[in-house]
Amino acid sequence: MPFILTPSEQLHTLFANGELKPFIPETVRGKHVFFLHPLQEPDPNIALMLMFLTADALKRASVSGITLVLPYIPYLRQDRKDEPRTPISARLIADLIETNRKVERLITLDIHADQEQGFFSIPVDNISARTVHAEYFRTKFHNNFQNIVVVAPDFGSAVRARRFAQKLGKDVPVSIIDKRRTGPNQIEVIGFIGPSVANKHVIIYDDMIDTGKTIRGAMSEIIRQGALSVCMCATHGIFSQRAEESFAIAGQQIVVAGTIPRTSEYIVRNSAWLSFVQIDELLADAISGNSVSKLST
Ligand code: R5P
Repeated sequence: MPFILTPSEQLHTLFANGELKPFIPETVRGKHVFFLHPLQEPDPNIALMLMFLTADALKRASVSGITLVLPYIPYLRQDRKDEPRTPISARLIADLIETNRKVERLITLDIHADQEQGFFSIPVDNISARTVHAEYFRTKFHNNFQNIVVVAPDFGSAVRARRFAQKLGKDVPVSIIDKRRTGPNQIEVIGFIGPSVANKHVIIYDDMIDTGKTIRGAMSEIIRQGALSVCMCATHGIFSQRAEESFAIAGQQIVVAGTIPRTSEYIVRNSAWLSFVQIDELLADAISGNSVSKLST
């Protein structure tokens, strides 16, 4: 019988100097453990350390194996050396995960770049939220996508946006914003490629919203080109640098998947502009051992 270790069951003590000491609340000897762990709060570094330590505790508690269920994994944007003397952080995260020999499999959602699966030797089930995103928009637009354009806010999101558009309908057009990164969390829009968005309803589709600068840059360009409305959709809604405040003021609609746990107070406070689609069933399907091909296409 597998054992599912959820965030609410993850216990740890904190030493005065900030060191963490997790402990497993009941015996897991001989069990296969599905270890579901959020990796953003209170910040990615503490969350990662807690994950590594808890996985180590599971190994030392004689589990038969561990499946890590990490809906959002930080550091995956740093997947190559984009300037001299910098790390490939995504590869390092993969290596660190695999130092624990009991970790047999990883389930995650919409990793930053599909090819990052190759950083791991263990199987990676990279499931996608696009099915639940598409359901949301089917309801919102009453299944009528005649006047819709999906926009990728940069080249890296083009394939993701196209797959999402195909979920809405085979003829839903996709355009791409040409974005230049001028520094960490700094971007500049330099061009637009694809069908016009003038007099169209636009869905901007990305893997994540962090500070929101990418998606806001895309939104300004799309409004400048005469779109009727713009809705932004992503899998991971991180919202750092208090991005919520500027989105709330702008009054645009944003849809994210629930890969980063939020309190009910947070959900209510931001409900005027932020909606969540649920990923519980996707994760449950992947955990239950069903084929994940329908979850990742
Ligand atoms: C970039 O490659 C990603 O796909 C996202 O577009 C980006 O990380 C979002 O970050 P921000 O919201 O800070 O612009």
